[in-house]
Amino acid sequence: MYLGIDLGTSGVRVVSCDSAGVVLAAAEQSYRVSHPQSGWSEQAPDDWIKATGQAIAQLRAAQPETLADLRAIGLSGQMHGAVLLDGSDKVLRPCILWNDTRAADEAARLDAIPAFRRLGANIVFPGFTAPKLAWVAAHEPEVFARLARVLLPKDYLRLWLTGDHISDMSDAAGTAWLEVAGRCWSDELLSLSGVARTQMPGLVEGCAAAGMLRGDLAREWGVRGPVVVAGGGGDNAAAACGVGCVNEGDGFVSLGTSGVMLVARDSCQPAPETAVHTFCHALPDRWVQMGVILAATDCLNWLARNLGQRPEALAALAGDGLEAPSRALFLPYLSGERTPHNDALIRAAFVGLDIADTPADLVRALMQGVAFALRDSLEALRAAGAAPERLLAIGGGAQSRYWLDVLATVLDLPIDLPEAGEFGAALGAARLGIAADTGAAPGDIMTPPRLARSIEPVAHLRETHEETYRRYRNLYPALKALS
Ligand code: XUL
Repeated sequence: MYLGIDLGTSGVRVVSCDSAGVVLAAAEQSYRVSHPQSGWSEQAPDDWIKATGQAIAQLRAAQPETLADLRAIGLSGQMHGAVLLDGSDKVLRPCILWNDTRAADEAARLDAIPAFRRLGANIVFPGFTAPKLAWVAAHEPEVFARLARVLLPKDYLRLWLTGDHISDMSDAAGTAWLEVAGRCWSDELLSLSGVARTQMPGLVEGCAAAGMLRGDLAREWGVRGPVVVAGGGGDNAAAACGVGCVNEGDGFVSLGTSGVMLVARDSCQPAPETAVHTFCHALPDRWVQMGVILAATDCLNWLARNLGQRPEALAALAGDGLEAPSRALFLPYLSGERTPHNDALIRAAFVGLDIADTPADLVRALMQGVAFALRDSLEALRAAGAAPERLLAIGGGAQSRYWLDVLATVLDLPIDLPEAGEFGAALGAARLGIAADTGAAPGDIMTPPRLARSIEPVAHLRETHEETYRRYRNLYPALKALS
């Protein structure tokens, strides 16, 4: 029996499965994000541990013997967060999360040093870990002075589980300190950020063993034998394992809080100038490239909150069948944008609203705007040499047929929708646990899900959507000039 734990931004999800990867049970617990200032986004790492303990207790309450035969655990988590620890592994301040933009100036300063793009393979985005440390050094010198270790969110969970400071290649690639092609820490990038290798965790591949579950936790959970904890992966690489995106050109589009378009690569082909992210995959000798937009379903959640509706009810207003493109345009930059603009300061806009527009019109404009932003990511991925021929859709937004129709039409790619079931980052993490325990070939475990249906672009609406996309492309420079 295996566990996959995905430490998300709004909550933790734990799934159990058998050695064939068939899901047995799942549990979820949520926690909050605090925004003490505009652009800030923080969480207390101990809330993650409390929530994970509760999710595991939930699994055991349903089936008390469930963990008796546990053999391995895989971890996945929100990327880029900086958990800062002192010499006794005490948390020094709340974790600064992936969607926190306070370190924009520090990011620009580091990004201007050529070594970061050359070795780190990416733009140093404000959400990445390195600029956060530079911000702490400048604004909280007393914290920085006591810093003994920097961990990524899921690796703090691992510290609780095993007592070890370890990360995996896919998550480490999002720090801006990893030599992404060589899959090792870069002393040059670390020292350019004022930190040292001794403050970094050790590194393993995602499907390798990273440690053993602590004896006291094993006893508390009623586990009989030793339990391996696998390296695991950053949430996107782990999700790629969950949906079988492992070979060159395999791709998925995730309509989650953030929007991600990911393509698996069998070589490291960085293209930082496109604002595409190039990270290690959670599997050896493989990489992933992705376009990341900072708000996808977050846009719908924002509109729902402001209209006093539930997001699902609002999404339903869009209707079933895609018709002409929305006249009103929406630029989804509620939290700034990564791909393709790398602009922490830009903000969202509705353009071209009409006196007759209704909430349904706003929703259609919003879904179209998110689809256009993902089209920007597709173009950036193509410029980087990643060319998906079809994409699997995952994430909460994939429940909206309208959203998938507009996305397929705007991308001009077929979109495959998995059957209902478990196939996200938590399953990917569990699969990495299976690989670490059994040594099975990743291709045998990381298989694609069964499909419910494939959504084709709506052919007669392609050209009008293409024209509207061109209008959308003209809006960013205008918006930037105003901000
Ligand atoms: C990826 C990224 C997000 C977080 C969200 O670069 O920042 O997808 O991992 O969980």
